[in-house]
Amino acid sequence: MLNYAKSSKLPLGRAASYDNVAPFYDSLSRLVYGDAIVKAHRFLVKAISANSKVLIAGGGSGRILEEITQIHSSGLCITYVEASGKMIELSKRKSTGNNKVVFINQPIQEASLLEEFDVIITPFLFDNFGENTPGFVFEKLHPVLKPRGLWLFADFQVYRNNWWQKGMLKIMYLFFRIVCNIEATQLPDTNTPFVKHGYKIYSRQEFFKKFIYSVVYIKS
Ligand SMILES: C[S@@+](CC[C@H](N)C(=O)[O-])C[C@H]1O[C@@H](n2cnc3c(N)ncnc32)[C@H](O)[C@@H]1O
Repeated sequence: MLNYAKSSKLPLGRAASYDNVAPFYDSLSRLVYGDAIVKAHRFLVKAISANSKVLIAGGGSGRILEEITQIHSSGLCITYVEASGKMIELSKRKSTGNNKVVFINQPIQEASLLEEFDVIITPFLFDNFGENTPGFVFEKLHPVLKPRGLWLFADFQVYRNNWWQKGMLKIMYLFFRIVCNIEATQLPDTNTPFVKHGYKIYSRQEFFKKFIYSVVYIKS
């Protein structure tokens, strides 16, 4: 029996809460980004092999679970760690076929992960984190990904100093800081830890005029 009890270690960073936006988060993201977020998810989940053990951190309302289920209707063991209770409630209503899903309503910093995974998915998670949290979360997840495992990563980027992308980011951060109390004020550097730990890019794609990107990293 796996023990997912809270670890005694204090989590790093302040607690964001997406509870306030959970009921309309997906509609809002569709209004602003059209289908770009879903396309970014789809690009990632097609890299998942049958019968994988998958960890999803910050999965939101569970849209990504439905995308995964369309490809693998059974055989996956999914651990779904999500900080917002309201987002977890929505996720539990999503169709997951005959895949086994364990929902953990905790920040990923606090969750006890006592097994290794073939695939880790962090879809638009790291952009919530302030200065030190990305490194902390990376160092927590890296050891539980099996050698040759896949880290499926999606987030925003500012492509070539683009002015409207910078403007949109500012507005997004202002909104999510006020409404969800997120730590971040700017995009963290997420490339360095992957490079430092020898991850290779297996595939990469950009969406929404390169403002959004998805990367399939492979652990060496
Ligand atoms: C920007 S939303 C992205 C939602 C979803 N992944 C998507 O792509 O539509 C970020 C999600 O990460 C969750 N989150 C933020 N900080 C977290 C943490 N430390 N641990 C786990 N989940 C977290 C939020 O509750 C929210 O659901």
